[in-house]
Amino acid sequence: MTACTVTAPAKINLTLDILGTRPDGYHEMKMVMQSVSLADQVTLELDVPVGVRAESGLGYLPRDGKNLAVSAALAFFQAVGREPRDLRIVLEKNIPVCAGTAGGSSDAAAVLRGLNTLTGAGLSPEALAEIGAKVGSDVPYCVLGGTQLAEGRGEVLTAMPPLPHCFIVLCKPGFNISTPVLFKAWDQQRKRLRPDTGGLIAALEAENLTEVARRVYNVFEAVLPPNQRREIDRIKNGLIQMGALGAAMTGSGPTVFGLFDRKELADEAVRALREQYSEVFLTHPV
Ligand code: C5P
Repeated sequence: MTACTVTAPAKINLTLDILGTRPDGYHEMKMVMQSVSLADQVTLELDVPVGVRAESGLGYLPRDGKNLAVSAALAFFQAVGREPRDLRIVLEKNIPVCAGTAGGSSDAAAVLRGLNTLTGAGLSPEALAEIGAKVGSDVPYCVLGGTQLAEGRGEVLTAMPPLPHCFIVLCKPGFNISTPVLFKAWDQQRKRLRPDTGGLIAALEAENLTEVARRVYNVFEAVLPPNQRREIDRIKNGLIQMGALGAAMTGSGPTVFGLFDRKELADEAVRALREQYSEVFLTHPV
């Protein structure tokens, strides 16, 4: 086999907490992550003589090592001690870009999984996650997926009980947020609200969606510039008014998600949000 297609799901942060700064310049995280059904499709074609290159329908995405998918392929070949083979990576992008939903990291994780199969390397998911940590902090989570507690830089993963079945509405507002800038803003801010991560994990263990949804929270929301924070709050409040059991921003934003137990309410929220926003999706946990 010289080609395969791998599904690369988006993720949301049920919680995002920052415990402090680290000597390596990164931050110590505590996050409960959940993968969702919205996904890219990543096709790998080995030995197509293009070097290691990524293609997508989006002209502004890099095609070289600046693309996490290419970076993952190079890290994979290095980890297995082989010269990079020619590899054409075709990214069918459905996950919004720069959205806090780990689209680039998930594509990178899909490349690691796909190359593991295509080359017959037979590495364990944990070994692939370790390679992923060299590519980006969210890549190890994306290799494993599902419901996970992510600590350290994001690469220390503990499997959690799955999020009970629900409908997850995603809405990406039109502005972009720089992750390093947001971390800097957090460094400079007096710390206030923190998520109840332990309570959320207990609610997962009890399979209680309502109690999970009450506890979704992201500390980055509190350090957004005021105009962006107002827009995030407006979307969150709208989702709650339309019947969401809880709502929060995911990752370093700007995508907001709402958790619903009733499909008809989630459908109606999608319809209403689409009147104002172009990137609105109905998803479910995977
Ligand atoms: O690891 P990754 O390349 O995804 O991180 C992007 C940026 O986010 C880093 O350069 C760093 O500024 C910040 N970051 C951090 N602490 C983390 C993860 C990311 O400060 N745990």
